[in-house]
Formats: sequence, C-alpha cells, structure tokens
Amino acid sequence: MNQYQTVTGDETLLRDGTIKLHGPAGFEGMRKAGRLAAEILDALAPMVQPGVTTGELDDVVRQMTLDGGAVPATFGYRGYTHSCCISINHVVCHGIPGDKALKEGDIVNIDVTPLLDGWHGDSSRMYLVGDVPLKARRLVDVTYECLMLGIEQVKPGARLGDIGAAIQAHAEAHRYGVVREFCGHGLGRLFHDAPEVVHAAKAGTGPELRPGMFLTIEPMINLGRPWVKMLSDGWTAVTRDKSLSAQFEHSIGVTEEGCEIFTLSPTGRDKPPYE
Ligand code: MF3
Ligand code: CO
Ligand code: CO
Repeated sequence: MNQYQTVTGDETLLRDGTIKLHGPAGFEGMRKAGRLAAEILDALAPMVQPGVTTGELDDVVRQMTLDGGAVPATFGYRGYTHSCCISINHVVCHGIPGDKALKEGDIVNIDVTPLLDGWHGDSSRMYLVGDVPLKARRLVDVTYECLMLGIEQVKPGARLGDIGAAIQAHAEAHRYGVVREFCGHGLGRLFHDAPEVVHAAKAGTGPELRPGMFLTIEPMINLGRPWVKMLSDGWTAVTRDKSLSAQFEHSIGVTEEGCEIFTLSPTGRDKPPYE
C-alpha cells in the first residue's frame, strides 16, 4: 500500500504517493526552514493587537520571509496570492489576509510556510487579541496540548494512526470536535506530500513511522461540532455551527530516538500568552 522512497540527493521528487525518507542533509535543510518559520511567528506576537489588519500582518510575513532568503510557499500555490493564512475565531483554516482588523477578544491562527533552499517550513500558532474569554483560552490551551500529545507518539515503529488517536482522545475528553476535512501532511522538498496525517484515527492503524520521515501535525479543534463549511472564496473554511476553532502546527522529522521538532520557537513562544 504505502511505499517508502529513500531520498539520496538532488533527484526529482514526485507526489506519487510514496513516503520520502530523508538523511542528514534533509534534516539540516528542514532545521533552517523550520527555524525561519518559528522566528516569523515569534516576531508577529507583539504585532497581533486590536486594530491591526490581517493584510498588514501578511505584509510583515512576506517581508520577513524574503529577508530570511526564502519565499512563501503559499504565494502562487493553486492560485493563492498571499504569504500566509490568518484564521480568526470561527474560521477553521486558510483565512485570506485582507482589510479585516483584529479586535479585542479574537483568537487568531497565523500559518506561515517559508520555502528556504528548497525545503519547506510549515508552522502555525494561535494568538490572543487583548483580553480573551476563558472558554476561548481553554480551547487554545487544549488544542496546543493535542498537538504535543500527537507529537509524543512519533517514534520509529509507531503507526501514523497513533497520532490521530492521541489527539482525538484528548479533544473529545473536553467535548471538542476534531476537524476531519483537513489533515497534516508529509513535506520536505515538496509542500504537501504523502502521507495524510489525520487528526482523528484508530491507534495501531496506518503506515509505520520510520526514521527520516518529515511531516506536519496540525490539528484543528472546534469548540462545538467538527463540521466545516467552505466560503464562496474557495479557500476559507469555517465551522458550520459558528463555534470557535483553534489550530497549532509543527513540522517534525522522525529520528532513531523519536522525533525532532523543526519549528520550535527559539524564544519559548510556542503558545500564548507570549509575554
Ligand atoms: N500552511 C497550510 C498547511 O498547513 C497550507 C496553506 S495552503 C494555502 O498545510 F494556499 F491555503 F495557503
Ligand atoms: Co501544513
Ligand atoms: Co501550515
């Protein structure tokens, strides 16, 4: 079913359904791309304030990405023309930056994807705009816990389904809904590659995790039901029941011992509050 392909060097990689297995050069490339993603997300923290528009934040992401020697992988991706995705409150993912201004009490996801020297960093965090109600802050905290519990499953010999099982168990223990329509993914020289990393799954199912696999884990967790609806812009996904939704994303690599997180914040700002 799922085949593995060992990546040796500069060969052309195809989205052919194979799971790529990388060596030291791949880890070095992903460390640099992941580090830049984390630095961009760090720098955004003090700027996420009432009154700032999502378009202004997108400009900052684009400039920081270019200054870091990278390009935003989203730019020109399937007709998308922005440098990041910004998803506010009941927006689940792929919110398009624009004229909308943030307001006190909003919860906001910013998802950045620098492509640096041929390697893709992909990471997102939640930000709290001013004072945020406890219910929303708890959703954000539990969503971060879901991401980290998923990451804890990652080691050689574990199965892909172990990740989703850990995430689903924790989210549903809080009576939250796990979004099914969008998944984590393999990445590396390709932005979205096999395997699909689902965030609700049965433990012990799916392909075996092997050293050298690169993937994202990016659970979207809803305060209400899991169901999503697409807006007519073709990108923005929102919760059907208008409940709040939160998401965190890291890019990771499977190592002999467990895993390495490429997109950890160098300043410890992995989850809010950031100061
Ligand atoms: N960064 C998103 C992910 O985690 C993908 C965004 S693609 C876009 O996979 F075109 F919507 F920006
Ligand atoms: Co991703
Ligand atoms: Co992303």
